[in-house]
Amino acid sequence: MPRHFIALSDHTAEDLRRYLDLAKLIKLNPRAFSKACEGLTLAMIFQKPSLRTRVSFHVGMSQLGGQAINLGPKDIQLHRGESVSDTAAVLCRYVDGVMARLFAHQDLLDLAAVSRVPVINGLTDFNHPVQVLADLQTIEEKLCRLAGLKLAYIGDGNNMAHSLLSGGSIMGMHVAVGHPEGYAPDANVVAMAREQAAHAGGSVLITSDPAEAIADADVVYTDTWTSMGQEAEAAERLARFQGFQINEALLGYARPRAIFMHCLPGHRGEEVSAEVMDGPRSVIFDQAENRLHVQKAILVHLMGHKR
Ligand code: CP
Ligand code: NVA
Repeated sequence: MPRHFIALSDHTAEDLRRYLDLAKLIKLNPRAFSKACEGLTLAMIFQKPSLRTRVSFHVGMSQLGGQAINLGPKDIQLHRGESVSDTAAVLCRYVDGVMARLFAHQDLLDLAAVSRVPVINGLTDFNHPVQVLADLQTIEEKLCRLAGLKLAYIGDGNNMAHSLLSGGSIMGMHVAVGHPEGYAPDANVVAMAREQAAHAGGSVLITSDPAEAIADADVVYTDTWTSMGQEAEAAERLARFQGFQINEALLGYARPRAIFMHCLPGHRGEEVSAEVMDGPRSVIFDQAENRLHVQKAILVHLMGHKR
């Protein structure tokens, strides 16, 4: 298993299975892990806002017997020009692990390259692996398996699309991405996902027809049309993404038992209708809860005391 948690594509299906099994165990019996990170400290660097990532990592560390330190953009010297590498080199002399939410993915790679302690990706402009690990746990809980299921992601070819392509294909799912013209996912990520899918018995479909992407899907996923840092493009994106809203009409192409997923924060009336977001197929708050359990599994595995 890799010593950092930077991308799902760094992992094999067996690695991800180990994390999912440990997360299940932790969810069933959290008390059994109450000393797993006793006396250990996680530093949390945030260049962008966060509700779920911030709170679930903080609470997760407490429940494991350790503590977390929140380092927002104004709390440390990054905005005054201290490099990410220097920040990491200093931090790892004090703490036992670093979780970072950064803009540039290369900054996270630089951080991991110099860090002597495990580094966990809490989202970059490129990917969001902890979210998708929680999503895989949620899908398995709701539909009892991963391999062979069709996951349709409708929207921007962004960080969420990239991690869903990686995670889904590694686990043998059929991953379809329906995106507006000009908002396709990264070609290298798609190529790697195709290779993974071929190996694991899944497939990858990239299309600008949302109905084609969603046809017969077991899981329908969407994300905001304007990610953090893209606020200046919001009006243009709102216009370009018309026709890609997940509503009852579009959901009609999916399987009758299909579940609806969203990493949140969500925008009712934009990427998803209120009816679907708050409807019976929506599992959005289970996804949010599972962030806690899978991240505790990652913390225990990468940082925890070995029993
Ligand atoms: N889904 C997610 O990562 O939420 P936050 O941005 O609130 O952490
Ligand atoms: N694509 C979104 C995900 C938020 C969890 C963003 O980067 O803002």
